[in-house]
Amino acid sequence: MKNSKISFIGCGNMGRSLIGGLIANGLPVNSITGTDINAEQRQTAASQFNIEVLEDNRQAIKDADVVVLAVKPQSMQETLQAISSDLAHEKPLLISIAAGIQLSHLGLWAGEELAIVRAMPNTPALIQSGATALCANQYTNETQRDLAETIMRSVGLALWLDDETLMDTVTALSGSGPAYYFLIMEVMEKAATRLGLSQEHARILTLQTAFGAAKMALESNHDTETLRKQVTSPGGTTEQALNVLMNGGIEDLFAEALKAAQERSAELAASLGGE
Ligand SMILES: NC(=O)c1ccc[n+]([C@@H]2O[C@H](COP(=O)([O-])OP(=O)(O)OC[C@H]3O[C@@H](n4cnc5c(N)ncnc54)[C@H](OP(=O)(O)O)[C@@H]3O)[C@@H](O)[C@H]2O)c1
Repeated sequence: MKNSKISFIGCGNMGRSLIGGLIANGLPVNSITGTDINAEQRQTAASQFNIEVLEDNRQAIKDADVVVLAVKPQSMQETLQAISSDLAHEKPLLISIAAGIQLSHLGLWAGEELAIVRAMPNTPALIQSGATALCANQYTNETQRDLAETIMRSVGLALWLDDETLMDTVTALSGSGPAYYFLIMEVMEKAATRLGLSQEHARILTLQTAFGAAKMALESNHDTETLRKQVTSPGGTTEQALNVLMNGGIEDLFAEALKAAQERSAELAASLGGE
């Protein structure tokens, strides 16, 4: 990757977090070019990373090995159509991080037979702790797949899907997932303050417990069910709480919640297909 020239179209929150991740992982700043239509964003990215940030997408694509598309989904069609002749000439690997835009639509707007990777990151990518699913079109070779994976791994975990339709499930799980955990933390904090803890203590104990549990699960060889059983002594306090949650239907509730998110993701993806 060190010899690759990578251009970012869109230097907003996500574009900048990827640029930051790549530089932290040793990519030289002169390998990266950014663009943004927003002058403030250009200024922010240029001063934050000491990289070249242009206004002109066509200029940024010149000699690029990889073009990362980090604009909002609703700007994608117009952005790609405006640079399609340059893409046909340079033939870079395209990586789109836009939620919901399918490979077939990206290919249609960008031009024929370009290697394209679609990535679905989540917001913790902003602090290099993201979870990203990737899928590639038929024109993407092994070297390009490795390159895309390395780029996305600079902001956290990255894994491949063979079936693009599973992106809607990924969106429901890891895409929307941070909000589910925020909700759980929110209601745990509230419950603990009702039982007498100060807000400050309830907050910090909740957050550290969530962090510790996630770290334990990530570092353990056991699955989450085993880990749960290991901290649930028969007749103990944890068992009492888990019985309330299980009897309250937490499993069915999450199944329903993820299904609703998956269906909404598919609906939004269909509506983003353009004309
Ligand atoms: N933020 C997340 O956590 C997250 C998670 C998963 C996926 N994503 C995806 O990541 C993408 C970027 O999200 P973001 O939060 O970084 O958005 P953002 O902060 O709005 O950044 C996008 C930037 O691109 C600029 N832009 C628009 N059209 C352009 C063009 N034709 N050429 C160059 N720059 C252009 C925008 O300018 P204007 O503001 O002036 O339009 C904006 O500065 C989205 O597609 C989103 O679906 C984001």
